[in-house]
Amino acid sequence: MNEALFDPIAAHYDSWYSTELGSVSDQVERHLAQSMFKSPGPQVLEIGCGTGHYTSWLVQEGYEVTAVDISGEMMARAQQKIAALTSNVMNTKPVRWWHGDITEILDQLATYDGIFSMTAFEFVPEPEKVLQELFKHLKPGGCLMIGLIAGESSWSEYYAEVVRNKPTSVFARAALYTKDEIASWQIGVPAEIGECLFFPPNVQSAEALAIEEKRQGNPGFVVAKWVKG
Ligand SMILES: C[S@@+](CC[C@H](N)C(=O)[O-])C[C@H]1O[C@@H](n2cnc3c(N)ncnc32)[C@H](O)[C@@H]1O
Repeated sequence: MNEALFDPIAAHYDSWYSTELGSVSDQVERHLAQSMFKSPGPQVLEIGCGTGHYTSWLVQEGYEVTAVDISGEMMARAQQKIAALTSNVMNTKPVRWWHGDITEILDQLATYDGIFSMTAFEFVPEPEKVLQELFKHLKPGGCLMIGLIAGESSWSEYYAEVVRNKPTSVFARAALYTKDEIASWQIGVPAEIGECLFFPPNVQSAEALAIEEKRQGNPGFVVAKWVKG
């Protein structure tokens, strides 16, 4: 269990979303993930909730969320965020917080209508095996969906450069898979694949959305979804 990986960056993790590049990439990733995630019932497991960036959305959608994260510092920020949200928004369901390594708690999971994860499986060893196990914890009709930074893209090159400049970056521990690799994972049913982030990280944010619309080249972010029959 690598508790410490995200702990030191938890305090400034959300500042990425306030940068121009972070804001526009968040916009396109969020649009894709939120349009693909269709949970047929209320019980949702979120893996790698981090600072609660997507937990807030899941809670506002009315889901009963169980949020797992290996980093206590990241989860503490998520707890603060959700406490602030629930004091302002009526009728939200309480989040069940589970501080742990998803690979170590697979046999303790319940069954869920939806399993949701954004930008976390890059840091999970043997993701195909873990996803196979998670698929068994879906109710009939349930939806398992993950979003991942894609390999062989301008964004994977960008993160490789980040690591060259700062070898202690969390991205030194990330494994980035291509769309085809993710689609080939044997999870139980064929994957539905969504793609986004066609603009490169060095673009002016004003141009990013126009480039995104053209959908040319390899995507920088892939969302994969498996629905249980
Ligand atoms: C890049 S952050 C993404 C956080 C959030 N999903 C978001 O989109 O802002 C990755 C998160 O996954 C968590 N994580 C990594 N490996 C994990 C594991 N094996 N079990 C549970 N959480 C894990 C990290 O602690 C971190 O909070």
